[in-house]
Amino acid sequence: VGGRMRPVTPAELSTHNTTNDAWLAIRGRVYNITHYLPYHPGGPEELMRGAGMDATQLFDKVHPWVNYDSLLAKCLVGPLRFDLPDAE
Ligand code: HEM
Repeated sequence: VGGRMRPVTPAELSTHNTTNDAWLAIRGRVYNITHYLPYHPGGPEELMRGAGMDATQLFDKVHPWVNYDSLLAKCLVGPLRFDLPDAE
């Protein structure tokens, strides 16, 4: 609860693209969706289509009304940042 936010680069985001370790970004916020996968009403396969990337357009195409930020509050990793070096 609170804290431990850290910026994520697109390169790091792209490495989290398996069902055991899945992150996605929506509107500049990166979420770890690994534990939400089994609960996604559209099924884990559908949700995995957005893994490892900025899934904003995909998300909005399917269900722009869904309150992802509240559903994934505890899964928030941090902001997606394009202006940081990719190396540690
Ligand atoms: C429903 C796809 C991300 C939450 C659905 C459905 C699809 C889908 C196809 C419809 C299932 C049905 O009615 O049979 C996707 C795709 C995503 C994505 C491709 C990739 C980004 C998310 C995220 C969340 C989420 C990030 C929130 C944590 C929900 C909810 C529903 C739903 C709550 C039920 C919506 C309703 O019935 O009004 N999704 N989803 N989805 N998804 Fe996603």
